[in-house]
Amino acid sequence: MKQNFKFDKDFLWGASTSAYQIEGAWDFDNKGKSVQDVKEVFENTSDFKVCVDHYNRYKEDIKLFSEMGLKAYRFSIAWTRILPNGKGKSNKKGIDFYHRLIDECLKYDIIPIATMFHFDLPYALEKEGGWSNPATIDAFEEFSRIVFSEYGEKVPYFLSINEQNVMILHGNVIGTSLEQEKQWKGLYQQNHYMQIAQAKATILCHELAPNAKIGPAPNISPAYPKSCSPEDYLAAMNATAIRNWLYLDLSVYGQYNFQAWNYLKDRDYLPHIEDGDMELLKQAKPDFIAVNYYNTMTVEENTNKEESSGEYGDQQIAMAEEGYYRQVNNPYLKETDFGWEIDPVGFRVTLREVYDRYKLPLLISENGIGTYDKLEEDGTIHDEERIFYYEQHIAQLAKAVEDGVPVIGYCPWSAIDLISTHQGIRKRYGFVYVNRSDEELSDLKRYKKDSFYWYKELIKNRGTF
Ligand code: BG6
Repeated sequence: MKQNFKFDKDFLWGASTSAYQIEGAWDFDNKGKSVQDVKEVFENTSDFKVCVDHYNRYKEDIKLFSEMGLKAYRFSIAWTRILPNGKGKSNKKGIDFYHRLIDECLKYDIIPIATMFHFDLPYALEKEGGWSNPATIDAFEEFSRIVFSEYGEKVPYFLSINEQNVMILHGNVIGTSLEQEKQWKGLYQQNHYMQIAQAKATILCHELAPNAKIGPAPNISPAYPKSCSPEDYLAAMNATAIRNWLYLDLSVYGQYNFQAWNYLKDRDYLPHIEDGDMELLKQAKPDFIAVNYYNTMTVEENTNKEESSGEYGDQQIAMAEEGYYRQVNNPYLKETDFGWEIDPVGFRVTLREVYDRYKLPLLISENGIGTYDKLEEDGTIHDEERIFYYEQHIAQLAKAVEDGVPVIGYCPWSAIDLISTHQGIRKRYGFVYVNRSDEELSDLKRYKKDSFYWYKELIKNRGTF
């Protein structure tokens, strides 16, 4: 396979991680507990206490990222390191850690891209109702103020909230909905509050860190109709409105998507909206959209009353909504070992669709494949499947750029092995292998996978291969 399109020389070839999946040191240096620290993990998967110990090994890791040629590193800031209780007294040790991390990136000319909130709500706030309590909006504003005042001069790109849509639709799987909220109506109220919090952070960023840019980071999956029947096409429109545009229309235009609104109304899930909320949402103008892309959906008409998300708590939530859509497998697509459909062309479709709707620059903040990688006796890891996956996706990314989509950068998931949201470390994503398993911590030694050398070469050649 060949890819001849040369990306711009300023294109941000990067890689991503998130604090709770990589740092470990869950109770070091006054860090407070987050919902991820207290959630019950799935059977036979690691917890998040040590992860790959990036908190203590960040220098070694960033040196490796630099060796790989990364131009950018997307990480997340743990709210509980900065404000152990989610609000109130701040923690200097936590604030200093991210200064050191950012400075380390800058030392190697790696542009830091910071996510402000990646699934790790402070547990102290969760106990007070989490995102169901509007006071969490004030706490996020307080946290944002510290983030922008401390790091706003050094960090040119902030991502406000990672995958808000996934937190609402699949929060029980990733552990962001604990005991507080299990009802759809309540979740859509949380969604509204989170959007308000995000809007406030966006406005604050422009005020306190005028040189920085900020954008939301949803997970976008376009929906294909299963057949060319008009009913299936309509089902695809419903599915994308409920899964994607509900969130992005609020983040970018400050308004509820009318199709999603009708669904919320029909199901009696409408949120309570305070006076001034919609004006505030409109006032917040993101500078770009960060897109996490893994796969697409395929849907068909659904007239079966039995097939609906119904009560919250079932892992199949949001797979089917009676009267709207039912998700089905796509026979044209292969799957990863973990059952995720692989759709490189869908990547191009996503980028075109998102840009067409919002006309904002895009930053790819996640894209990648979870695989069972094997450390060989001689310290090598032959992850050809990952290389093949990236080749196919980068080729489509190049086509999207040639189509006219302005893409600032590509930060695949993940820079280094880390703990998956609910499938442990056996589901590996990194360019760098970390020697540990779900059962044993071992020595946590780092090894370069074949994809590490491949990505290095690709970056050097500005995306051609
Ligand atoms: C994204 C998240 O949904 O997908 C990451 O932002 C996550 O936190 C990644 O790790 C891959 O998903 P998973 O469930 O395989 O870890």
